[in-house]
Parts: sequence; C-alpha cells; structure tokens
Amino acid sequence: DEKINVAIDGPSGAGKSTIAKEVARLLSADYIDTGAMYRAIGYKLLKNGVQADDGEALEEILEATDIDFDQGDTLLDGEVVNHQIRTPEAARMASLYSALPAVRTKLVALQRKMAQTKSVVMDGRDIGTNVLPDASFKFFMTASAEERAERRFQELKDKGQPVSLEQVLADIRQRDHNDSTRALNPLRKAEDAVEIDTTGRTIQQVIEEIMEIIKQES
Ligand code: C5P
Repeated sequence: DEKINVAIDGPSGAGKSTIAKEVARLLSADYIDTGAMYRAIGYKLLKNGVQADDGEALEEILEATDIDFDQGDTLLDGEVVNHQIRTPEAARMASLYSALPAVRTKLVALQRKMAQTKSVVMDGRDIGTNVLPDASFKFFMTASAEERAERRFQELKDKGQPVSLEQVLADIRQRDHNDSTRALNPLRKAEDAVEIDTTGRTIQQVIEEIMEIIKQES
C-alpha cells in the first residue's frame, strides 16, 4: 500500500479531532493530534513555572521534552497526560505558548518525523500550510463560533466540568484571535485545501464527504 498523509486544519471546536480519528481508522493510518502536543507543552511549562519570556529556561525544558502517542494516549516524557491536558487552563496555555518560535520549531520537527515513515491523519492549525505542505490530502474545517462553543460546552458538561456557555464562547473567540493573528504559522487555509463548513452537519456526513474525496483521488 502507498503511504498517504492527510492534513486537517481549522479552529478549535470545528470537529477536527473526532473526524480525523475516524478517518485515520478507516484508512488504517495513525491519528496525530498536534493540539494535544501543544497542550502537553503548555501543561509542562505551566507546571514548571516557566515564563514565556524566559528563553533559557524554555530551551532547557524543550530539549528535555518528549511527546508521543500510543494507542490513543498522549505521552509526555513517557507519562499518560490525556486528562491533564483537556482542561480550559491547559488550552489557554497551549494557545499562549504555541506562539513561541522555540516551541513551534520543536513540535513541528516531531510532527514531520511522525509522518515520515507511516501514513498519518494529522490535525491542527498549520498542518497543510507548514508541517506537511506536500500532504496527499488537505482539508480545512470551519463552523460558526456559536456552534463550536455549543459543542465544546456540551463536551465539558458531559465530563462534569463546571463552565458557562458564555465563558466557552469567549475562550473560543480569544483562541481564534490568538491562533489567526500570531506572526508564526497562523491558522489559515492552505490554497490547495478543500474547505468544509461543518455548521449544522453531523460528524458522519462530514466523514463521508472526506472519504469520498480521498477514494476518488487515490
Ligand atoms: O486543537 P486544540 O484546541 O487542542 O489546540 C490547542 C492549542 O494549540 C490551539 O489553540 C493552538 O494555539 C495550538 N495549536 C497550534 N498549532 C497546531 C495545533 C494546535 O498552534 N498545529
């Protein structure tokens, strides 16, 4: 079989991870959640009290950091951190620290290495534009901020996390702003990416659309 790489980009809450995971399963490819990698770094830097402007401490920590995936688990230096990185706090840290060049350089190198030897479905913000510019397939998923906030709100509520819809929407707007205005590899659609608006559509419908496109052109 030929190796294929699928890049799925878009803002938070557009449904990327659920869809990417299922597309990976259907293609027998590995699912790489790059957001989880930024969250893991954010979590570690926060835990170690590293300030964003302390370049030396940052370099030191990054050098001693390993992030990997194993059967759906996110491993930070060998430890499973699935739950620790799914808090609103870790999301804010990820968004903040992901603007730092040293952080992006480190994670992009890891991501390219993961895609080198095996088929992957990778989701994030800059996969089609920067990490895997030669990906076999590129998708850019969007949805209205209100719908994305509603989805995230339900998700957090189901997990028993006490948040308000207003707070979730404000967080999403803030992260959209950070992600699309940062100088380095901002969130944007690659010219050759297929744009998919998921507003008002089910996950299953979107998965089918993506699989149709992949089957047609493979
Ligand atoms: O996708 P998720 O919400 O888990 O990503 C958390 C944060 O990580 C995003 O808000 C974004 O700032 C950052 N990120 C990034 N580049 C990626 C993936 C995520 O900057 N490829």
